[in-house]
Amino acid sequence: MSLFGGKSHGTTGAAPGSSSKVSTPSPPNSSGTAKSESKTAPRALDEKQEQYYKLKSRLHRKLVDQLDITKVSSGDADLRKEVRELVVGLVDQENALLNFNEKQRLIEEVLDETFGLGPLETLLSDPLISDILINGPKTCYIERKGRLELTNVQFRDNQHLLHIIDKIVSAVGRRCDETCPLVDARLRDGSRFNAVIPPLAIDGPSVSIRRFGRDPITWDNYVSFGSVVPQMVEFLHWCVEAALNILIVGGTGSGKTTLLNNLSSFIPVEERIVTIEDAAELSLRQPHVVRLETRPANIEGKGQITIRELLINALRMRPDRIVVGECRGPETLDMLQAMNTGHDGSLTTVHANSTRDAVQRVETMVMMSGFELPVKAIRQQFASAIHLIVQAQRLTGGPRKVTTVTEVQGMEGDVITMQDIFRFEQLGIDEKGRAFGQFVATGIRPTFLERLKSAGCQVDPSIFERQVFPIVNRD
Ligand SMILES: Nc1ncnc2c1ncn2[C@@H]1O[C@H](COP(=O)(O)OP(=O)(O)OP(=O)(O)O)[C@@H](O)[C@H]1O
Ligand SMILES: [Mg+2]
Repeated sequence: MSLFGGKSHGTTGAAPGSSSKVSTPSPPNSSGTAKSESKTAPRALDEKQEQYYKLKSRLHRKLVDQLDITKVSSGDADLRKEVRELVVGLVDQENALLNFNEKQRLIEEVLDETFGLGPLETLLSDPLISDILINGPKTCYIERKGRLELTNVQFRDNQHLLHIIDKIVSAVGRRCDETCPLVDARLRDGSRFNAVIPPLAIDGPSVSIRRFGRDPITWDNYVSFGSVVPQMVEFLHWCVEAALNILIVGGTGSGKTTLLNNLSSFIPVEERIVTIEDAAELSLRQPHVVRLETRPANIEGKGQITIRELLINALRMRPDRIVVGECRGPETLDMLQAMNTGHDGSLTTVHANSTRDAVQRVETMVMMSGFELPVKAIRQQFASAIHLIVQAQRLTGGPRKVTTVTEVQGMEGDVITMQDIFRFEQLGIDEKGRAFGQFVATGIRPTFLERLKSAGCQVDPSIFERQVFPIVNRD
């Protein structure tokens, strides 16, 4: 049911003959964020919206009738200009009671339906939005500056939303229908896209989009956002350069992938890097990178390629560094083994809420690999494979920080010994409801200091002295 599939079903969710409204209701303010009174929207507003939907749907149908829709592609600026003129003409014919701004918005929305992803286009063009979360056609949340907000963006109905989902996933050769109701994909700007549709999603299609802004977050941003201090960045730079194995831990949306991407940027350019991900999110700048992505099973349940298979294959590709987007299953054992058998400098992330939790999670995931290893043996593997654990956290009110940088020192009896080298200490919540605090060096010198020095890192030992770092927080 793709827009480009043919003229007969070429409307974006507004099939000819269907009564109805297409796309987003009038946003109550320029940002599209719902004001609280919108929850109890008066009836008159509903009727106005209904009329607006109908008008837009009518315009869209007329446009589709006049266009060779198969030639429409989202990147064609000239065509968009031509079609715009056509839409302006159609709007004028309608003689609708719209002021200049309303007309302009209507024109843009009809164009978005035709060329892009309909109501999603407005959200996708806002660089400050980091997550778009759609719970059925009438509810859409966004995350902006670390805070969740309800928006007024709506889809006409389930069909309309399904149509947009189909448009996205078919562009990357995937499908989403009753036989395959779960799908991951990537948008044209690199954003991660996930959809779950009925019957699995009970209240209508659910979509989660993780944006990676046009300008990815850099180390300079990290420092200016107060997510880290320059001394920690310098230390992490040495650790990556000296090929330590680093595990990033954090909860959902805490910034693990962003951190992984930035740590990977410290890998020296002459090294061969293999990245393995479920949906490619990393964007490494080095010239010598091989990017691998898993593949879901096809409709007959065949052809799935897992992270584990890609990892095993990567070992035969003479990598200097292996970067795995996330270890969430049996591949964890292979990752530890790779780290223990000469693939130093590997980086990965694990979903866990603390450094200790991460160890337990790794134990559980290793047990999923089917080998009956005693817990002590798993811990030994862990302790000798991982040199450093870096924790990312999303704190109260939204700020994301690197909250601990911890050295894994070894084993004492059955217990893995770890020492924080740097840590964020939360001191309170400010008047905007956001957590604030300070970064400290704990006074512990890492035991791998000699390794850093022998790798040529100009280590300034004074950064490990017990101290509070001045924090630059312009956020
Ligand atoms: N230090 C930071 N400051 C501000 N925003 C950040 C920071 N780190 C990450 N973000 C933003 O937070 C969002 C989540 O980041 P990211 O995808 O890296 O998290 P994640 O832990 O990998 O999430 P998931 O668990 O869903 O994989 C992204 O939009 C990213 O741009
Ligand atoms: Mg991630």
